[in-house]
Amino acid sequence: MKILNTPYYGIYFGEDSYIKKKNFFLKNFSKKILLVDNISKKNCLNYFLSKIDFLKKYYIINIPSGEEKKNIETCKVIWKKLLDINADRKSLFFNLGGGVITDLGGFACSVFKRGLNFINIPTTLLGMIDASIGGKTAINFLSLKNEIGLFNFPKGVIIDNNFLKTLSENDLKSGFAEIMKYGLISDINLWKKIKNLILKKKKLIYSYNLIINAIKIKNSIIEKDPLEKGLRKILNFGHTIGHAIESYFIYNLNKKISHGHSIAIGMICESWISYKMKMITKKEFEEINMIISLLYDNIKIYNSHISKIIDFMKHDKKNENNKIKFSLLKKIGYSIFNKEVDLFLIKKSFQKTNMINLI
Ligand SMILES: NC(=O)c1ccc[n+]([C@@H]2O[C@H](COP(=O)([O-])OP(=O)(O)OC[C@H]3O[C@@H](n4cnc5c(N)ncnc54)[C@H](O)[C@@H]3O)[C@@H](O)[C@H]2O)c1
Ligand SMILES: [Zn+2]
Repeated sequence: MKILNTPYYGIYFGEDSYIKKKNFFLKNFSKKILLVDNISKKNCLNYFLSKIDFLKKYYIINIPSGEEKKNIETCKVIWKKLLDINADRKSLFFNLGGGVITDLGGFACSVFKRGLNFINIPTTLLGMIDASIGGKTAINFLSLKNEIGLFNFPKGVIIDNNFLKTLSENDLKSGFAEIMKYGLISDINLWKKIKNLILKKKKLIYSYNLIINAIKIKNSIIEKDPLEKGLRKILNFGHTIGHAIESYFIYNLNKKISHGHSIAIGMICESWISYKMKMITKKEFEEINMIISLLYDNIKIYNSHISKIIDFMKHDKKNENNKIKFSLLKKIGYSIFNKEVDLFLIKKSFQKTNMINLI
């Protein structure tokens, strides 16, 4: 087992992590509560319970899966259940699931009685390399992604890639987009490794080492700027446009495209903007466009809807003084934040990726 100690909590790697955390789990917590969604319950709960069979008594809260459930209504269900079982501040809350469970569960238990202790056990690739680490918890509100939330660090995170055995290809790809992002924003060698793998195999290949590498990159950025006052904003590369596309599909078209798929498209658009703003070269943009498009499907967007997508960007949390602020690439492996971008360039970027068919 490896441990990555952050200033706030430990990230434990491997299936012997549960036994290593046994003493902590058995500390004097008044109640132990496990949050799952119906799919993580089906695929992950029995395995997890077999690993923590030393916990004699626990409560399970089961919610429906899906991004559209990451809202205040689901929080109310959780809070009601916590009240029913008399959970108090000495309770320990486990989030067992993907990014929706760690974001929503982290938020719900952070504000319940001003905060319960929680542990994240991510069960998706995206959860492992991104959502479960870094202390951001949130729910969506009025069609806006992660609009209500707070920074609050878990008491620990367990990374056990056994959970990935049941994950769909689509959800693996979703997580992989964020690994690509880490390469593009801060590690040219990681990007080259990913590029060569994709060119050779024409499909997604991930490994435990890649997961550990990705977690270390995210963690090193968060250590320097835990509350996103500056540097941490580079992690939002691809997300200004990507989040807007993700929200537009769910709330305007009632269709789900995964977080990573949206971010993959956002990264191409924002790379084109970086090129047009004379930060990366045309060759770099073309390489990014080609590599990302090899993995992800095209999407159709109505030309007449682009202004609706841009409306979503106006609520992006990085904005200042009503100006849409982007994190962009200075060159592959280097990034910059707080960049204001002309509206014309944002609109035009939708025509420049292989992945958007404007109809
Ligand atoms: N807090 C952060 O820093 C941060 C960072 C990135 C993304 N996010 C958030 O994370 C969410 C996306 O995360 P996600 O892609 O994990 O979504 P998700 O939690 O919806 O999981 C995707 C699907 O996989 C299912 N699933 C979970 N574990 C499984 C397993 N082991 N086998 C089979 N199916 C399984 C889920 O039930 C769901 O249907 C978004 O809401 C995004 O905003 C947060
Ligand atoms: Zn993301």
